Amino acid sequence: AFHLAPKEVEFESDGAFGKFDNQQLQRGFKVYKEVCSACHALKLVAFRDLKAIGYNDDEVKAIAKGFQVPAYNKNTGEVVTKEGVAADHFPPVLYAGQGTPPDLSLIAKARHEGPEYVYSLLTGYQEQPAELLKKFPDAKTPEGLHYNPYFANLNLAMPQPLTADDQVTYTDGTKATVDQMSKDVAAFLIWTAEPKLDKRKQTGWAVLGFLLFATVLAYMAYRNVWAEKK
Ligand code: HEM
Repeated sequence: AFHLAPKEVEFESDGAFGKFDNQQLQRGFKVYKEVCSACHALKLVAFRDLKAIGYNDDEVKAIAKGFQVPAYNKNTGEVVTKEGVAADHFPPVLYAGQGTPPDLSLIAKARHEGPEYVYSLLTGYQEQPAELLKKFPDAKTPEGLHYNPYFANLNLAMPQPLTADDQVTYTDGTKATVDQMSKDVAAFLIWTAEPKLDKRKQTGWAVLGFLLFATVLAYMAYRNVWAEKK
């Protein structure tokens, strides 16, 4: 088996106590914007949704303005493009290269161990192992594809997107290594796929608290009801 299971990675939002780290999500967004958005859409996310990860109204407006989104000219019936506004969603991407870059909004949910998978895929490009070629000469990576053992059929159309440290300029003091950028964009894609994750966990804890309270109350009521019968 040359196909590998995703690497172990920890994300701030993991586990019952985990919470999104907005600093990290903003770094991940930067990676998406500066690198991934050349090929991948994020159609389920509106620019104004970014307020949830700590951007203010002006920042959201500026981000939206940097994208051209499809629009409809009511007079001519033509589909045109216009500068994005806060309420618009991230636009579709016309990709002329080989393969079809999937929309990334839900990729963290769509793939098994999604966030770990995204991280592993981004950091997993390598030479084809000699052993593989010896065993299966036909499995040689075809022209235009790239070998990556974390991709189910081993060769994929996406060229390695993150190749050098500081490819994205981080402004919060974090060192932008390929590893860090991969982790950050994976964390960002956890958020796009489940923006209400923190809220869901909080609700879970409130429910558990209520159940505990109800259990104690029921027990005390039981003691009270049977108190004279013993
Ligand atoms: C596929 C992530 C940048 C082109 C994918 C997949 C993911 C992904 C998760 C899906 C693999 C699967 O189906 O399981 C990212 C991230 C990027 C990025 C996080 C930025 C860091 C790019 C860029 C390009 C690109 C810049 C274009 C130059 C593609 C293509 C596929 C793909 C063509 C389809 C591959 C295939 O099915 O063979 N990407 N990508 N990606 N990506 Fe990217």
